[in-house]
Amino acid sequence: MMKFIFVTGTDTGVGKTTISACLSAFLSLKRKLNVGVMKPFESGLSKRNKDELPWDAICLKEASGSSDDLNSISPYTFEAPLAPEVAASLENVKIDLNMVDRIYKKILNEHDIVVIEGAGGVLVPIKKNFFYGDLIKRWGCPTLIVSRLGLGTINHTLLTVGYLKTRGIKIIGVILNNNDGTGDLAAKTNPTILSNYLDCPILGTFPYKKNLLRDAMNRQYLARLFATHVDTEKMLNALDL
Ligand SMILES: Nc1ncnc2c1ncn2[C@@H]1O[C@H](COP(=O)(O)OP(=O)(O)O)[C@@H](O)[C@H]1O
Ligand SMILES: [Mg+2]
Repeated sequence: MMKFIFVTGTDTGVGKTTISACLSAFLSLKRKLNVGVMKPFESGLSKRNKDELPWDAICLKEASGSSDDLNSISPYTFEAPLAPEVAASLENVKIDLNMVDRIYKKILNEHDIVVIEGAGGVLVPIKKNFFYGDLIKRWGCPTLIVSRLGLGTINHTLLTVGYLKTRGIKIIGVILNNNDGTGDLAAKTNPTILSNYLDCPILGTFPYKKNLLRDAMNRQYLARLFATHVDTEKMLNALDL
C-alpha cells in the first residue's frame, strides 16, 4: 500500500526539515521501511552550497537513506529565498504541476512511505492561485504540522489546523518544536493551552538540539530522538501503519 506524510509548518524556520529528517530516519531505521522523500519546491539556494547544510533536499535524502536523485527529490529549486510563485517568476520559470505529479507518483511507487516537506505554511503560493494547501489536497496526503514551541505559536497553530480542516485534509497531529532553545513562560504554557483548543493530537514537544542536521548526520541519533520525544504509536496508528 502506498503511504505518504506531508510535513507542513506554521511558518518558515519552525523546523520542518529538522522534524522531517528525524521522522524519515525513524521510519527507516526503527520501522524498517523503505522511505522516500520529497521537497517539491525549494527556494533560497543561492546562499547555500553543498558543504553548508541544511539544504533541505540533501538533509532529507541523507536522513531517509533514499537513493533517489536530488532532481527528483526536489524537482524545482530557486535562488531567491521566496515563495515558489514569486521565486519562479523572478527566474522566468513556469511550474509544470503535471511533471511534479509524475515524479511524485514514481517516488510513491518505489518506496513503502514518502515524507514530503512543504515550504513556509499552507497558504504559501506555489503558482498563481495554487497554494501548498491545494497541493496537499491534490495528492490526498495526511499532514503532520510542525509548530514552534515558543511565543506566537497559539495563533499560527490554530490558524493552520483550522485551514486544513476546512479543506477536509487529514491531520495526523502537531509537533511543538523548540527551534530556538527558549524556555520562557510561553514555551512552558503553550502545550497545555494548545491542547485545550486543538481537536487533533499534540504528538510531542521536540527539544532544542544545536546543529542537529549540520554535524555529520547521525541517522541513529535522529531516529532515537524522534522515538523519544514523539508519540510514535499514535502517529503510526493515524497512518494505519
Ligand atoms: N529542535 C531544534 N533544535 C535546534 N535547532 C533547531 C531545531 N529545530 C530547528 N532548528 C534550527 O532552526 C532553523 C530552521 O529549521 P528548519 O528545520 O530548517 O526549519 P524549516 O524547514 O521549517 O524552515 C535551522 O537552522 C535549525 O538548525
Ligand atoms: Mg525546510
